[in-house]
Amino acid sequence: MRIWLDGALRDTESARVSVFDHGLTVGDGVFETVKAVHGRAFALTRHLERLTTSARGLGLPAPDLDEVRRGCAAVLDAVPMALGRLRITYTGGVSPLGSDRGEAGPTLVVALSETSRRPDTTAAVTVPWTRNERGALAGLKSTSYGENVVALARARERGASEALFGNSVGALCEGTGSNVFVVLDGELHTPPLHSGCLAGITRALTLAWAGAKETDLPLDALERAEEIFLTSSLRDIQAVTRIDGRQLADAPGPVTAEAMRIFAERAAADFDPR
Ligand SMILES: Cc1ncc(COP(=O)(O)O)c(C=O)c1O
Repeated sequence: MRIWLDGALRDTESARVSVFDHGLTVGDGVFETVKAVHGRAFALTRHLERLTTSARGLGLPAPDLDEVRRGCAAVLDAVPMALGRLRITYTGGVSPLGSDRGEAGPTLVVALSETSRRPDTTAAVTVPWTRNERGALAGLKSTSYGENVVALARARERGASEALFGNSVGALCEGTGSNVFVVLDGELHTPPLHSGCLAGITRALTLAWAGAKETDLPLDALERAEEIFLTSSLRDIQAVTRIDGRQLADAPGPVTAEAMRIFAERAAADFDPR
């Protein structure tokens, strides 16, 4: 495995960040997870735009996107693989021990690991913890992911691969690493961004390509939904067959199957959809 760190490609053993890096000490950083297929990063331009938005939201200097692109190209060329998880991490850099950020400047890491295609269907659970749609980090892809770690562990304990959150007013929000879509009375809906969910790139492409309404929904919409699916860079569109104790008959249902078909067709036709 080769890692891009602070301007150069390095071996895993020599790619080291400081123990004083603010990403490590207080989770002061932002990141992107990008699907890489045979050495090509899907929707990279959108991911880089979101990296900049997230960095700005945390008050980090805007990342040098030419350098990020160089880093992505370098690791993708160095390690050929059919399907990869390309991970861009950009942190507050070396800082004092505490929440004040230091003067050293940000740390940039680009890494790649091999992954396998997700199954077309999965199980999800709801969790009792809430997303704070009014929090300082709402909608930012920050490395402060502890809440997602806890929720995903809960999902795994229950034989599921994703945990879904409501927000502080009980509205359906998102998963630990995915957005959620539901079919109600034959119509496809997804929570709006003001629910506090991440502006998922797969969500945006699904809205644009397959069409869906952005609707404020209560968390218990999941109990009545005829179909549910998750979207994320590595899941694309993935049908939910079981939510908590409820089995959804014949998932992927017709609306989900059509969205999956359209997504696969459009993504194959344009690897960097703007
Ligand atoms: C909290 C959260 N919501 C949604 C998503 C889906 O976003 P995307 O489709 O851009 O991968 C992610 C991605 O990992 C995420 O971490």
